Amino acid sequence: MSKAKYTVTAALPYANGPIHLGHVAGVYLPADIFVRFLRMNHHDVAFICGSDEHGAAITLRAKKEGISPQEIVDKYHDLIKKAFDDFHINFDIFHRTSAPIHHETSQEFFKVLHDKGKFTEETSEQYYDETFHQFLADRYISGTCPKCQNPGAYGDQCEKCGSDLSPKDLINPVSTLSGKAPILKTTSHWYLPMQLHENWLRTWIKEGRLDGVQQHDPKAWRNQVIGQCMSWIDGGLHPRAMTRDLDWGVKVPLPNAEGKVLYVWLDAPIGYISATKQWALDQNKDWKDYWTGDRKLVHFIGKDNIVFHAIIFPILLKDHGGFILPDNVPAYEFLNLEGDKFSTSRNWAVWLHEYISTYPDKIDELKYVLTAIAPESKDAEFTWKEYQTRINSELADILGNFVNRALVLTHKYYEGIIPECGELTAADHQVIEAIHQIPGKIASLMYQYKLRDAQAEAMQLARIGNKYLAEQEPWKLIKTDPERVATIMNIALQITANLSIVLQPFLPNTATKLEGILNYKTKDWNDAGKINLLSSGHAIHNPEILFQKIEDDLVHAEVEKLKKSNQSNLKFEPQKMEISFDDFTKIDIRLGTILSAEKVEKADKLLKLLVDTGIDKRTIVSGIAEHYQPEEVVGKTVQVLLNLAPRKIRGIESQGMILMAEDIDGKLSFMIPEKPFEAGGGVR
Ligand code: MF3
Ligand code: ZN
Repeated sequence: MSKAKYTVTAALPYANGPIHLGHVAGVYLPADIFVRFLRMNHHDVAFICGSDEHGAAITLRAKKEGISPQEIVDKYHDLIKKAFDDFHINFDIFHRTSAPIHHETSQEFFKVLHDKGKFTEETSEQYYDETFHQFLADRYISGTCPKCQNPGAYGDQCEKCGSDLSPKDLINPVSTLSGKAPILKTTSHWYLPMQLHENWLRTWIKEGRLDGVQQHDPKAWRNQVIGQCMSWIDGGLHPRAMTRDLDWGVKVPLPNAEGKVLYVWLDAPIGYISATKQWALDQNKDWKDYWTGDRKLVHFIGKDNIVFHAIIFPILLKDHGGFILPDNVPAYEFLNLEGDKFSTSRNWAVWLHEYISTYPDKIDELKYVLTAIAPESKDAEFTWKEYQTRINSELADILGNFVNRALVLTHKYYEGIIPECGELTAADHQVIEAIHQIPGKIASLMYQYKLRDAQAEAMQLARIGNKYLAEQEPWKLIKTDPERVATIMNIALQITANLSIVLQPFLPNTATKLEGILNYKTKDWNDAGKINLLSSGHAIHNPEILFQKIEDDLVHAEVEKLKKSNQSNLKFEPQKMEISFDDFTKIDIRLGTILSAEKVEKADKLLKLLVDTGIDKRTIVSGIAEHYQPEEVVGKTVQVLLNLAPRKIRGIESQGMILMAEDIDGKLSFMIPEKPFEAGGGVR
């Protein structure tokens, strides 16, 4: 039987921020491990990823940073791509959805569906922000979730209860742009009538059959994936808008569609196809080979992406025609960090690029830990303490210790030459049996997407080797029974050679190092399980320590760093909403001189000030009495907001406001000009 061919994709990360360990553990690392394994097993594989550069995630971030969406995606695309390179996540291509070839591909795709009559065009009333002149879909609108009452639900989803929402479902909706209540305005969009697809989706997802043909083994799909899809379908599918009124995205390729772009969840998965096209162009291949015929399409994703990859994208692919549907959608649950959710806004995260620059020689260590705790079937947690424990007591004490012993003793007894294997004992046979079996066990776990167990099985080989040497005690026998020692060492060395093979998908740097020391190299998984990989007489090189132990200091420093950046982030309020220059010029701030000051009766915080503003003398009530005595402020130069509407405070009309600097703990200070200034000068 010829080997199955694969197109493996990893969810396109939004180019709106760096990648953190949660993303790595629950998408990119497992995808990379799986692909490395497939390649060692001679499967033809394309490994596709890239950045997702459209959608509200990008435009909202751009607003927040005060730069254009293009600048945002350029910045984060480069940062993310480099982090993946440095971490040796070896995509065949890391493309981007702002590329022209992607715009063309997704427009063409849309056209085909449109011309086939797969969309319905509907006009309806949608929420609209009058200040920003924008329709409010998805993340542009928030309000209270009708299902769980979470006040921070978005127009597409409630992150608290996971419900799929539409803007009209929200209670008390407000625009996330202006913070104001929206109005309703008429607009038209193209909808995907998903309700027409319920039947085939059920059979395809639950039984793996499409049009009566068995496509995939439904037992190979994770329970959560099938469960989420079924609960969606059972809840009833509805028409879903495939276009948006926005100016950032792929333009709708139809006349009379001015100001409309494709819905980001329509264009993004097509990004897998356009990335494949670009890669095929670069490689002189035919991209269609990777999306048609006898090939398995596998999407590695996080659980929040399930419906898009297992329901919506398959509908689109099938409606279009000429594409294979996914063979599997291995979705990961979430990884938490030190007892809390990863959060970009609260800066509660370990960023991949920061980890790499701090610990450039601990790449495999992190990979090992992340695979060992991968959130395959339920949410999992990363702690620096566990990072330390896993590295010290598993990588260093078991794998590192075993390999080091085997290598050091070979140099000590045989000057680095592999000794001959003699007669075998029962203990030897037992170990050899394990060597024969482990690669097959790993492979079968891999094909079931149980990468966590697969890595544990590879480590099992090191455990067996470690135990074998500890029990056989060659260091005791060397004086009395050197022949027996030769056999023990030969077997131990065959185990190290096997480790250099089976560790390759998980710990590629370590495997390469080990291959260098052993002076033995294979890229063929079929070589694993053999006990004659190193023939007697073969010379190996000097051993090196594979893993340094992690000190307590590192753990403390990382936990402290996390707490600190988290706190400093909480202290400062986020930037306020953007205003125009016109808004700014409406504000009239002048320099004034405080002429007199007195306490306001029965108000601990208030001083009544008489201020010379250069154009008049006016009364201002100010809340600085807890910080300054009246006599301290008389004669001070102060910034005054002149054109604030007068307000009555404790019966006194306050005709403006004085401006003070306030630090994080609420301490106040005058902002006095660096040079002496006359009252009346403006502040701009
Ligand atoms: N950017 C999305 C996310 O981070 C994933 C997009 S996957 C794709 O959740 F299929 F749409 F490309
Ligand atoms: Zn909710």
